[in-house]
Amino acid sequence: MTSATNSSIDGQQCPRHEDLVEDRLVLWYFVAALTFMTISMLAGILMGLQLLRHNPLPAIEVLSPGRWRMVHTNAIAYGFLANAFLGIMHWVIPRLTLRPVLSNPLSYLIFFAWQAVVLATAVGILFGQAQGVEWGETPVWIDPFALLGLLLVAINFGAPIINAPGPLYVTLWYYLAALVWTFLTYAMGNLLPEYFVCGSSAGAVGGLFIHDLVGLFVTPLGWGMMYYFVPILLKRPMWSHGLSLVGFWGLAFFYPLQGIHHFLYTPIPMFLQYGAVLSTIALEFVVLTVIVNFVGTLYGTGDLVLRNLPLRYFYTGILFYFLTCLQCALQVTLTFQALIHFTDWVVGHAHMVMFGVFSLWQLGVMTYLVPRILKTEWYNPKWCEWHYWASSGGLLVMASDLILGGLFQGWSWAALQPWDASIHLSIPFWSVRLVAGLVMFAAQILFVVNFYLTWRKSTRSFSVTVPATGAAPAFGQ
Ligand code: HEM
Repeated sequence: MTSATNSSIDGQQCPRHEDLVEDRLVLWYFVAALTFMTISMLAGILMGLQLLRHNPLPAIEVLSPGRWRMVHTNAIAYGFLANAFLGIMHWVIPRLTLRPVLSNPLSYLIFFAWQAVVLATAVGILFGQAQGVEWGETPVWIDPFALLGLLLVAINFGAPIINAPGPLYVTLWYYLAALVWTFLTYAMGNLLPEYFVCGSSAGAVGGLFIHDLVGLFVTPLGWGMMYYFVPILLKRPMWSHGLSLVGFWGLAFFYPLQGIHHFLYTPIPMFLQYGAVLSTIALEFVVLTVIVNFVGTLYGTGDLVLRNLPLRYFYTGILFYFLTCLQCALQVTLTFQALIHFTDWVVGHAHMVMFGVFSLWQLGVMTYLVPRILKTEWYNPKWCEWHYWASSGGLLVMASDLILGGLFQGWSWAALQPWDASIHLSIPFWSVRLVAGLVMFAAQILFVVNFYLTWRKSTRSFSVTVPATGAAPAFGQ
């Protein structure tokens, strides 16, 4: 992948990939991502303990569980997932466009500004400044900075994509769309319900926001990343370019319409609820085309998944994606919603998609890239294997446990049992969730230690290699 030789396109000499990519920044983003993941998981463990009536930090308002819960979700979305995606985009976009990002100093500015925004959000939430919008808890005064940051990210990455020669590869379609959608989605969720709409209209916008954060920010960046790394690791093109396009346009068309499926049976008008159900069903088919495409690409080389760890991460994520969508096909129906709404079924679903799919993909990419960037083998490749098994095994236990627990909670409520009865029956499920969470947490700590020791043994020294402005390196010189 990191070929050092110059090839040529249309008679022009191509820049070396190493000269286009700011490797050091990719690693820094990974470090930031893993730091926030550790914070988020600690918060999840605290929350899990609280539900078992063992709050380790009692009577400290700033550290109360309700606030930790928001730190858990915010640090995972904006601290872990976003940081990892930004690092990976720094690796992928210059390679696919043959151009560096618009400005290297701007990249560094964005890096530090983004960490400041995520940290300030966590501190603001702990000090009671959270806003009352799910996933939009970011304190009011941070929103403008976050939006400015997203705009700068879009400009910095958008410039090389727009100036790229030739037709765009699918990854760049997804990336370009995500750059625009993420800015718009964040603005919608953090401005409209707070300042412009209220009541059930604000609820409808909130529903769109939480789903679009997954569908228009995390999903296109995740699939874009997969369209780049899977063919490289398998050393073969995607099975069907046509299906890739169906997946992209299907996502663009159906995803924004379905957020209200989070709020079925609420005062939001029924025609909107029915519309959300229908577009979710439509998206199920679209997602299926994407999964079929990736399975088709693997066809005939399945044994590689057993031997190649990053590939195993990718296809485990695709399997969890399939399971999440299967679950979604059930839970989007009004009949099923009546049973599982407000139960741990939904929490199981959230963990399966956020960790089982997108986090596993990102951890797979990190497992692949870290030795390439540091130009040395992993300090302990066996630990990488343990990391995989404990992460994916822990998640499987956690998600199945919560999904099953959710069904029992729903049945208990449907039988009109006292509330206490459903709490009582949940305790074994919440205990298993905690144990699975501790296993997942231990796996990430092992990965962090392995990463640190690998960096320490690496002899690579980093120097800034990318031109300070976004001008394409002189082709043909
Ligand atoms: C140490 C492992 C983890 C533990 C113990 C844990 C625990 C929890 C707990 C207790 C909640 C609150 C559930 C409730 O309010 O009833 C929660 C929510 C959530 N967690 Fe985790 N978590 C862990 C890891 C993760 C990871 C790695 C991710 C994402 C990559 C994640 C994503 C979420 C999301 C999205 C929610 C919100 C669910 C919803 O509102 O439906 N968690 N987690």
